[in-house]
Amino acid sequence: MTEGAIETTAGLVSSVSKRLSRLADMLPPVERAADIGTDHAKLLTLLVRQGKIRKGLGVEVVEGPWRTALNHVAGMGLSDVIEIRKGDGLEPLAPGEVQAVIIAGMGGKTITGILSRSPAVVQSLEWLLLQPMSQAAGLRNFLQGSGWRILEEALVMEREIIYPIILACPGEMPALSEWEAEYGPLLLSERSPLLKRLIEKDIQGLQEILKQLAKSESEESRLREAQILRKCQQMEVLMQ
Ligand SMILES: C[S@@+](CC[C@H](N)C(=O)[O-])C[C@H]1O[C@@H](n2cnc3c(N)ncnc32)[C@H](O)[C@@H]1O
Repeated sequence: MTEGAIETTAGLVSSVSKRLSRLADMLPPVERAADIGTDHAKLLTLLVRQGKIRKGLGVEVVEGPWRTALNHVAGMGLSDVIEIRKGDGLEPLAPGEVQAVIIAGMGGKTITGILSRSPAVVQSLEWLLLQPMSQAAGLRNFLQGSGWRILEEALVMEREIIYPIILACPGEMPALSEWEAEYGPLLLSERSPLLKRLIEKDIQGLQEILKQLAKSESEESRLREAQILRKCQQMEVLMQ
């Protein structure tokens, strides 16, 4: 079945990834939401079909995905309720145009850059739904330092990759510890099996670095080894 032929919401849900489906579940119902870096626009079509949003706005900076998004929305017969704009980050949006912004599938640094370049749009929002592919600590610290509170967090595993999802609203949040920023204050307090698996994977990554460092005889490598070993020990404690 082609995507254009998917007519039922159940069919649409089963055609999107577990990650996109979880993002849709976590968005509170709003009148209008924007998906930045919308790519295929599947998240917006799912949100409209589920009745989570009445109007969707997709932003895409690259020509190819922008056309794919336009075609997908047209194929679903939703061009009257989902608009796809070509542009960079939040720049194509006016303050107050949407209540929620979703930015998923990009690095934490890219997401932080997009948010910090458009403060007027960000200040007008009720919700931010973010799914960083990397550098989640920097993104969480940015949220804390710019008047956003993390309200809900989730981890989703797909093809052995674990993705964090963050739902934030305007509000105060205490400064985050190193590990709260890295793994999420709420996720850390829950200590779910998936969080333990994520920490284990990160420890394995550090152990690979230790193997490489062991090949070097420099003083700098010994210092780095000691730092990494300390970090691994702290991470072991986090999993208990
Ligand atoms: C890996 S895809 C993720 C697509 C979708 N959001 C998802 O989670 O499945 C990232 C998309 O963001 C787009 N993108 C990257 N930087 C952007 C920016 N500054 N403004 C708009 N789109 C951007 C890319 O062209 C690409 O289509």
